[in-house]
Amino acid sequence: MAEISETLKQRDAEEVLRSREEAQETELTPCEVERYLAPPAQSAFPLEYTFHLVGDVANKTVFDIGCGTGESVVVLVHKGAQVIGMDISPELIELASRRVEMQCAGLPKPKLAVGSAYETGIPDASVDVVLSNALLHHLDLPTVLKEIRRILKPNGRFIINEPVRLLRVLNTARKLFPDRGNISEFEHPLTREEYAEIKKFFVLKQERAFRLPFVSLAIKMGTPYKYLRGLLLLDGSLLNHFSFLRSVAGVRVAAFSPKSLA
Ligand SMILES: C[S@@+](CC[C@H](N)C(=O)[O-])C[C@H]1O[C@@H](n2cnc3c(N)ncnc32)[C@H](O)[C@@H]1O
Repeated sequence: MAEISETLKQRDAEEVLRSREEAQETELTPCEVERYLAPPAQSAFPLEYTFHLVGDVANKTVFDIGCGTGESVVVLVHKGAQVIGMDISPELIELASRRVEMQCAGLPKPKLAVGSAYETGIPDASVDVVLSNALLHHLDLPTVLKEIRRILKPNGRFIINEPVRLLRVLNTARKLFPDRGNISEFEHPLTREEYAEIKKFFVLKQERAFRLPFVSLAIKMGTPYKYLRGLLLLDGSLLNHFSFLRSVAGVRVAAFSPKSLA
């Protein structure tokens, strides 16, 4: 296991502070579970498609890396997986364990740990599925990708649901509509080069794009969910039918398998 640099330790320390603020603002309410247990491949919703790719994980070891308040952990426990959830923030892990108590009574307990995605302490080749929901875009990619490849079994799968900005022109547009809320200094949608970096360590198996610019704009403008839902359905339909639109979509959900360690 490689030692992580002082720079990355400093970045982690800043993430802890940012996530503490997020935890303080979080009111823990039960999250949806049923909807994510067996969603269809054509779903218009990125998180549904993410769990479609997760598939049947009964009795499999699944690692939710950067698990936040544990929403995905709860779904994975209900899917019968042996779940490990890790986050750099002690406050978010505390919320995740309260969520598990609230929503997983009578089910096998997940292991929840405070720790860094850069050095997880998980044994080599011991995990069937690593799930990264909105984590990679906070981190130094080569370091975390090596760690994920190290802990995955050779036939394991790495599933991501991440914001991307694959066209440079969209980065210019982004400056006109700055992100709102509690955003860390390092966090940014993955660029084309960064997305390609993942493919140095993993082989792409399945992938879909979501969130055309009109949806991102509607989200930034705080559009209520009852209207947003219709826009998301339109988004899914447009992206399913017109593949040339994929390069301007703002979210990629994908499944990868590890490249063998040379
Ligand atoms: C955008 S949130 C996503 C949380 C969760 N996966 C979800 O989908 O709700 C990113 C999470 O990554 C965590 N994080 C940031 N840097 C980390 C690191 N180096 N190791 C582990 N977790 C980290 C943050 O504390 C935060 O909970």
